[in-house]
Amino acid sequence: MIPVSSYIDPAALEHEMELLFRKGWQFVAMTDELANDQDFVCVDLPGTAIVVQNFAGSLRAFRNVCPHRLNLIQTEERGNRSLICRYHGWAFDGEGRPRTLPPRQGFAESRDDERVCLQRFPVEVCGRFVFVSMESAPPPLTDYLGDFVPVLEQLSRAMGALTDIDTIHHAANWKLLAENVLECYHCGYVHPETFVKGLGIGKKSIVDVRLDRGHSSSHFPKSPTARDALKARAVAHLADREFAHESFFHVHIFPNLFISSTEGTAFYVGHAIPVSAHETNLRTRFFAPGVELDERTQARQDLMNKQGATLGKYVINEDRAILETVQRGMASANRPPLLGADEVRIEAFAAAYEAAMAG
Ligand SMILES: [Fe+2]
Repeated sequence: MIPVSSYIDPAALEHEMELLFRKGWQFVAMTDELANDQDFVCVDLPGTAIVVQNFAGSLRAFRNVCPHRLNLIQTEERGNRSLICRYHGWAFDGEGRPRTLPPRQGFAESRDDERVCLQRFPVEVCGRFVFVSMESAPPPLTDYLGDFVPVLEQLSRAMGALTDIDTIHHAANWKLLAENVLECYHCGYVHPETFVKGLGIGKKSIVDVRLDRGHSSSHFPKSPTARDALKARAVAHLADREFAHESFFHVHIFPNLFISSTEGTAFYVGHAIPVSAHETNLRTRFFAPGVELDERTQARQDLMNKQGATLGKYVINEDRAILETVQRGMASANRPPLLGADEVRIEAFAAAYEAAMAG
């Protein structure tokens, strides 16, 4: 069981950065956002600002700090721009070297002198999911993901276009966000209209639980709802989709990546980025189903994509309100939390967390 102090103590987050986030592989972005030359995405982890950028088709990641006066180089969350520092104009190539020696002398004899180069991080891709490692010689990403390599590949094929991207700030520790999505026991109480009445999810126990190296997945089975006939007509144009299941399918990639599929008709990718011991930025990405449509059905699907993202964010905000009060409760707790039989994925998360923190 993760000790309560790990959710509230700033020193605990520092240990997590050292032993957990700076080891193995961290999700940073989807390839969709990095498709063009000079596209970039930034992920600011405490103590390590990362930029991943497309250099003529290949993805490179660096510590997002100019070696000269330590200015942050890319200052937006994502965009399309050369990797060039806004302070003195130092521009960097895909190896992280200055493109030319800085015009005033005395910094270095060579562009290869590491004092004038950016710190480079290994990048690997699984399907459309881009990962960075802060280790200099990490194990292959496939070793890190284990049994979940084919899962991410299959989801990458099933997902269509990225339709919505946002950041939702939570006044809660990042682990509360992870634990929240690993069970749907709370769904009946926190999401009665959205999940239970709207989607028919949350009444039945989880099935098809898969666990490997701290990662986990499960299906949350669907129960009949009053709107089923109406919904079947609304998604008739998706009837031939390859990835179809009568459930809410949820995947957790340790430590902080969440992926879900609602019956294969709508997809969500959540990335919980710790800000401090009691603050987390949840990056939300919603995806259309990957089905070729004609003009008429595409217009209908566009509307469904919008409604799906609105509903998804409504659910996230329902959870956010609870997690923020859990954070406050934990600060006043005098005993550890309890775990029920349906919370087996939380148990697996805690075991992987404790193994990582043991070093
Ligand atoms: Fe929830």
